[in-house]
Amino acid sequence: MKPLIAALSLLCATVATAEDALAPISGYAFMEPATRELQDDDFLNPAFFLVDKGLALWDQPASNTGLSCRSCHQTIEQDMKGVAARYPQYDLGQSRLMNLEMKINSEIVDRLGGTALAYESEELLALTALIGLQSRQMPMAVDVTVEAQDWLVRGKKIFETKRGQLNLSCKDCHQNHWGEKLRGDTISQGQINAFPIFRLTWGEAGSRHRMFTWCMESIRAAPYGPGSDEYLALELFLAVRGRGLPMEAPGVRR
Ligand code: HEC
Ligand code: HEC
Repeated sequence: MKPLIAALSLLCATVATAEDALAPISGYAFMEPATRELQDDDFLNPAFFLVDKGLALWDQPASNTGLSCRSCHQTIEQDMKGVAARYPQYDLGQSRLMNLEMKINSEIVDRLGGTALAYESEELLALTALIGLQSRQMPMAVDVTVEAQDWLVRGKKIFETKRGQLNLSCKDCHQNHWGEKLRGDTISQGQINAFPIFRLTWGEAGSRHRMFTWCMESIRAAPYGPGSDEYLALELFLAVRGRGLPMEAPGVRR
């Protein structure tokens, strides 16, 4: 942990430069060529097994109702096109902000009569990856309705709040110091267009919320929970901040 602390105190000493206006750049641009190549080739991409698994789940009938996703959404390419690029979204029926994972779970419960999948389970990652893939190369295009405004304000505040033993905010690293080196990483803008990702240092796939937790733990702050309101608000803020970036799901990162 010592080298990280040393690197971070250096970070804190530098004066913040880039302010709020930010032309979004994908994390892809900050990766080594070898990592990019993994993402570029669906056969090499280690996250792609999720898509295959997602397809199997898509067709799997629920034990009680006999319905599957396919019963209603026959052509996934058509029905789910651009959907992932529009989440998180305020859901009037549920009176809350929902990200794609939550929407998938509500479909499982309300339409299939099934049981919600655990956040970060391989099944939920798989369906998220499958639906995410149908927005590949489409620009992130979240729409913040009136009802979602408070969530957005909350997310921005969380992004800017200094926290943890190292007293750093998301913004300190991902807005004020992107492009700089930190241990083996180049700090990116912290964009969310590639999720779910296969992270080579994890040796497995993870969601946006898992990444938030990783970052919070690395500055020794107490993380929020996956699926928590705080992470949802943060996700909405990041989706707005990244508007226009092409979707890359399922992505590969270092
Ligand atoms: C000490 C600096 C630091 C802080 C503070 C920090 N992160 Fe990160 N973050 C990193 C590093 C390093 C990585 C891995 C390399 C990269 O993609 O930037 C990363 C990666 C990410 C990614 C993945 C980007 C991609 O392209 O896949 C997201 C999203 C992210 N961070 C969000 C956050 C959020 C939200 C917060 C605040 C809760 C936060 N980070 C706080 C250093 C930081
Ligand atoms: C009984 C029919 C039915 C079944 C079964 C069903 N859906 Fe849906 N689904 C719908 C309808 C109708 C909509 C559009 C209305 C809405 O967004 O609530 C929808 C909307 C969605 C959306 C949101 C689309 C958007 O534009 O925001 C997603 C994502 C989705 N379904 C995924 C799934 C998944 C995954 C499954 C299987 C676990 C599934 N659905 C099963 C009928 C169904």
